[in-house]
Amino acid sequence: MPKDNISASVIKRLPRYYRFLGELKKQNVPHISSRQLAESMGLTASQIRHDLNCFGGFGQQGYGYVVSDLHTAIGKIIGVDQFNPTILIGAGNLGKAIASHINFDTKGFTLIGIFDSDENLKGKKIGNFEIMHTDRLQEFCKSQKPVAAVLCIPKSAAADMADTLVEYGIRAFWNFSHYDLKINHSDAIVENVHLGDSIMTLAYGLNNIRK
Ligand code: NAI
Repeated sequence: MPKDNISASVIKRLPRYYRFLGELKKQNVPHISSRQLAESMGLTASQIRHDLNCFGGFGQQGYGYVVSDLHTAIGKIIGVDQFNPTILIGAGNLGKAIASHINFDTKGFTLIGIFDSDENLKGKKIGNFEIMHTDRLQEFCKSQKPVAAVLCIPKSAAADMADTLVEYGIRAFWNFSHYDLKINHSDAIVENVHLGDSIMTLAYGLNNIRK
């Protein structure tokens, strides 16, 4: 099946498959049936077979999936073995936490620079990175050619920054800024993260489901 035809919900499940299979691999589990995988992931076996069939199917009837092979194959489908050069904009509380705690290298990205518009942060370090002022952004993008950006800046600053970054060649955004990037940049690949949405889903569960 051509990659364009794969539904967003299947794509959303791929990192979860990758994570679960990684855990099984660590536990030296050699192979697993779709039923066992489904039970451990809270899905149905037919959903798992359907999802994996979108990419060609991997199991053998009566034998299941070879855990390490499927883990590697899903990793390749996601692109975790890629090193897409990435910059992070906004070295405040959130930016620092993300730069320090997310292992970009195992997820298809390589963090190559951190920027902030605050003069006082210039030269300060987050891990091995020296924070650069945003006045260096253009020159940096021209020479290092990042393709992705993590936006950890306030919503009020995000529209202008997104315009600038798209102009400098950024195509993919991991966007924490609560700004709807698609308004001006329908071609950009955007993954919006709203932690508040996640806890509101929990609130819905508490208030409506578990009473
Ligand atoms: P913060 O105030 O600690 O850091 C923001 C940083 O962005 C500051 O260092 C500031 O100098 C910098 N900045 C502002 N405008 C800039 C620009 N034009 N270019 C470069 N740098 C710029 O704030 P914090 O706590 O790190 O949060 C950042 C943003 O992320 C906030 O707007 C917050 O609402 C949002 N947020 C989103 C979450 C989510 O789940 N999506 C979770 C937590 C925060």
